[in-house]
Amino acid sequence: MLAGRVSVSRVVGRTNLVRPPEPLARHLVPKQDGRAAYIGHTEILRKPVFWKPEELINYHMVVLGSSGSGKTYFVRTLTLRSTLSFGANVLVFDITGEYAPFAEMVGGHVVQLGVRHFLNIMDLGGVPPAVRAAQVVEAMQPFFDTDRATRQARILRDAVDLAYAEKGITDDPDTWDREPPTLGDAYRILRNLWRDVITKEYENKEYENEKERELVLTFANSTSARESLVGLLDKLRAVTEPPHDYLAKQSTLTLKELTQSGYVVLDLSKLPSESARMSVTTSVLQYIVEDMRRGGVPAERRLRLIVVIDEAWKVISQKDSPVKTLDKEGRKYGIGVIAATQDLSDIKEDDYLLNNAGAVFTLMIQKDTDRESLSKTLGLSQYLQGRFANLLVGQCIAKLKYRQAVVPPFIVNVRAILPQKQVRLRIKLSDPMRKIKKLALQRYRAAKRY
Ligand SMILES: Nc1ncnc2c1ncn2[C@@H]1O[C@H](COP(=O)(O)OP(=O)(O)O)[C@@H](O)[C@H]1O
Ligand SMILES: [Mg+2]
Repeated sequence: MLAGRVSVSRVVGRTNLVRPPEPLARHLVPKQDGRAAYIGHTEILRKPVFWKPEELINYHMVVLGSSGSGKTYFVRTLTLRSTLSFGANVLVFDITGEYAPFAEMVGGHVVQLGVRHFLNIMDLGGVPPAVRAAQVVEAMQPFFDTDRATRQARILRDAVDLAYAEKGITDDPDTWDREPPTLGDAYRILRNLWRDVITKEYENKEYENEKERELVLTFANSTSARESLVGLLDKLRAVTEPPHDYLAKQSTLTLKELTQSGYVVLDLSKLPSESARMSVTTSVLQYIVEDMRRGGVPAERRLRLIVVIDEAWKVISQKDSPVKTLDKEGRKYGIGVIAATQDLSDIKEDDYLLNNAGAVFTLMIQKDTDRESLSKTLGLSQYLQGRFANLLVGQCIAKLKYRQAVVPPFIVNVRAILPQKQVRLRIKLSDPMRKIKKLALQRYRAAKRY
């Protein structure tokens, strides 16, 4: 017979069940018909973990990790599932062509830039030509020589202005629906001025546009201006003259097609250079920013568009990067940015993304000093700091910032969507159907075992 009472505190004091450093299930799994995408499970108790963008302080997400740690797999999986489970619109800037083969899985679209589709970065997109001209110059930043960037930017700006003027596009909104010039026009204008200088034809030539005359005189009178021009012409020629005239063609796409068609992969891998990829990315982001502001703040706060920028760190760290604007204002308009990078030195310099993110996922990081500084930024416990050094591929530390709760970081095993396995069938021609079916069934069973 048991007699007497036992106080609760004594029982608790003796219990050897401790709560592992993992969040309560209600933070991780969606409520009934909540909008969420499955990520994987927690390391110790194997609770399912979901991304629930609307419950976090921001839709933005940062994914960090060394090369080969599983960033692309993570982001690809998460975005595919977001489209599948809550119909998210996703726009992926696919620099390396790693997303394109997966779009079909969710009925998405692949836009191959430079092959079947083109984007004219001089489309006005509803803003005055002067504003667009400044944006074009910003987008073309990767093309400038580092030591001559300022001067080349100024020359390009003048050429772009002249190209709009040539097409009769002015500050008057009635002229904005005319066919826009392309970078090819800007290149031609500069090349002609250059020829005028070389042949000294400029001395007797009448220039209709005052800006044109000023520009030609600058080139005639300054060696360094001429040097800048020559450098710029070289770069422009590479993307505006056939067969690589990617940036000298009219658009075959509209912004709506990119941002409101479910899962869309903008495959940039066929463009001729890293600079071209960065310029197009910046340009499309500029259009998204303008479009977002013009559309006004929607009444219902909901994630409408996920923009994925994987390893395009040059775009993110640019001084006037449109990513910065998306990051600051996107939430109001229902836009979330997912940025993945291996370059942690850039993150420290300009950590607006990290500060604004509602979710940070840190995969394996090789460099000790990077791990230490990140541990501090994320406020990792002693235990997690130890685990951080031993993460495997596909494991990450999740830091989720909820609007209604403080949840410490925890470890997640990511359940990635892996590429499909190829099964090869070899069947002798004389075999009847019955045998084919039997063989196919065997192979199917064998494949399923993996
Ligand atoms: N969650 C995962 N589960 C199993 N394997 C993974 C997972 N994530 C990545 N991998 C493996 O790691 C490799 C590199 O992943 P990837 O996402 O391309 O890395 P990163 O983008 O960080 O360079 C992949 O080819 C895949 O084989
Ligand atoms: Mg990658």
